[in-house]
Amino acid sequence: MMRALVTGGAGFIGSNIVERLLELGHEPVVLDNISSGYRENLVPGVPFVEGDTRDAATVAEAMKGCGVVLHLAASVGNARSIADPQTDSAVNVVGTLNVLEAARAQGIRRVVYSSSAGIFGELKTLPIAEDHPQDPDSPYGTSKLAAEKMCLVYNKLYDMRNVCLRYFNVYGPHQRFDAYGNVIPIFADRILKGVPMTIFGDGEQTRDFVNVADVAAANLAAAFSDDAQGAFNIGSGGRITINRLARVMQEVSGVEVGVEYGPERPGDVRDSLADIAAARAAFGFAPAVPIEGRGLEEYMDWVSHDPLTRARLEAEA
Ligand SMILES: NC(=O)c1ccc[n+]([C@@H]2O[C@H](COP(=O)([O-])OP(=O)(O)OC[C@H]3O[C@@H](n4cnc5c(N)ncnc54)[C@H](O)[C@@H]3O)[C@@H](O)[C@H]2O)c1
Repeated sequence: MMRALVTGGAGFIGSNIVERLLELGHEPVVLDNISSGYRENLVPGVPFVEGDTRDAATVAEAMKGCGVVLHLAASVGNARSIADPQTDSAVNVVGTLNVLEAARAQGIRRVVYSSSAGIFGELKTLPIAEDHPQDPDSPYGTSKLAAEKMCLVYNKLYDMRNVCLRYFNVYGPHQRFDAYGNVIPIFADRILKGVPMTIFGDGEQTRDFVNVADVAAANLAAAFSDDAQGAFNIGSGGRITINRLARVMQEVSGVEVGVEYGPERPGDVRDSLADIAAARAAFGFAPAVPIEGRGLEEYMDWVSHDPLTRARLEAEA
């Protein structure tokens, strides 16, 4: 049993990690400023520090007594980073440095950092292995890469075993419609409203969607492994076309809304697929939730019962 700080624990992925830590008998502590997270995601009884990772003293205080840190707090998304690059780097780079410094000072050996496939920029090869060129297309991708490098530099300088997990497209419970233009919450919104989904381009583009339960499992496996350190891709290792995704989401929810096609969006990648062999070898990462079936069934069930989603739909009706 270990006390574990989860920064960003009121967010989509962080709150799923908190639940998984509790299931395994650990003691999570949440640090979050509720900028893009929700109080509704907080688990009653779990200590919650409402504070900002940009404040070093707050981070150090929240970390006291912890054996490991799961660092998810971030300013998330390309569009947000282009609109406000200063906040993006302050939160993503300096905030991460505050987490690393506090961990080092308190003798905590591992920070598991939530990185992003956005560090790669334009995808050039498939599947995408860890050594794919890293040439981000936005301030967000750049700040996530800088923070990742900072975690790895601390491994070189100090007795630390930090792990960076580069997520591909994460989906699942606690991901709401406002989540940075992610396609699954947007399609779910159309289904719940009974209006057609819009697909940009011919719909034959592919994405590697990884379920949040598998992402949470990756975080815990990395956090509690003996030796793992470095940067790892975290995807499902499979991919699905957007046309197929639209079809399966309608089947799972039993609602036919149809699709409309719009012009291809400039800058959209055609195909995405993670090579996850390195994470499997380092800490036994083995994604278990298939998107066609349990993954989308659980998501549609969650989103159609989520009180915040229902309130939004009523307000928009
Ligand atoms: N969702 C994805 O598909 C995806 C893909 C790649 C990487 N990631 C990474 O995973 C992590 C979690 O993302 P998410 O999708 O759960 O987003 P999210 O917005 O739901 O979670 C981020 C959380 O961090 C909190 N936060 C933001 N700035 C903060 C600050 N300065 N101090 C304290 N808390 C702060 C927010 O309130 C929120 O609860 C992020 O680091 C993100 O870069 C997500």
